Amino acid sequence: MIGVFDSGFGGLSVFDKISKQSPDLNLIYLGDSERTPYGPRSKETIYEWSKQAIDFLFERGCQLIIIACHTASNSALRQLQQDYLPNSKYKGRKILGVTIPIVEEVVLQAKKRVGVLATRGSIKSNRFIEEIKSRNSKLEIFQVASPMLVSLIEEGYSDSVACKQFIKHYLKPLKNKQIDLLVPGCTHFPLIFDQLQKKSGKNIKVLNASQIVADKLKDYLSRHPELEFNNKLTGYREYLTTGDVDLFQEIGHRFLKTSFAAKKVVLKFKLI
Ligand code: DGL
Repeated sequence: MIGVFDSGFGGLSVFDKISKQSPDLNLIYLGDSERTPYGPRSKETIYEWSKQAIDFLFERGCQLIIIACHTASNSALRQLQQDYLPNSKYKGRKILGVTIPIVEEVVLQAKKRVGVLATRGSIKSNRFIEEIKSRNSKLEIFQVASPMLVSLIEEGYSDSVACKQFIKHYLKPLKNKQIDLLVPGCTHFPLIFDQLQKKSGKNIKVLNASQIVADKLKDYLSRHPELEFNNKLTGYREYLTTGDVDLFQEIGHRFLKTSFAAKKVVLKFKLI
């Protein structure tokens, strides 16, 4: 079983691509919609809440967890992989994220200047800059926090005039820096991919981040036959939320593009 974890609804856009790319995989989605968004939270809170979700999915029988949330991947994943997992009872299992697959593609495709649109938490972590620079120190990276887009997309206003104006507003400083590649570094941005490409213009390539993650996961699994999952691959799907089930199904539909039945679960709630 593979667990896909996100701060709330947006990770369903990544889940959708993984599910279509590898229909036979047994997949559980867990969205912490009760406590979303993670973007404006402190590093400590993002780590603690992500750890609770990871523990839950491991307890549920997952051998591999994909952190689909860019904020949690950027801010908490390294600490979870290096400090937490090796010393936990889940040692030997795997946690992957979305940052490295995207960065690997950035260094292949960028010419000189890379623009990143992401949450405040992702940007504060500096993770994109560190990972890109460690692979190609000549690339210049410019980041813009774009929190309004998360709310607009989540509330169903992806096609609204307001959303288009905010896209223009957030892209302006990046276009001024003459970026040649744009990283839509947030789970919500697949829903505005076409608009991002249109408003970026022909000189900027926009990465299809969720598709990259799905493709690289398929490749990763083919290179790791030892992860041959205990259960038979039956295309099992389960959708779990920490929040209101009806709301999760309603908003989740925008990201998954199909109806689904969710169940409510309780994580160890602790405000830090
Ligand atoms: N899932 C988050 C991300 O991809 C966006 C929503 C949030 O802030 O929790 O960064």
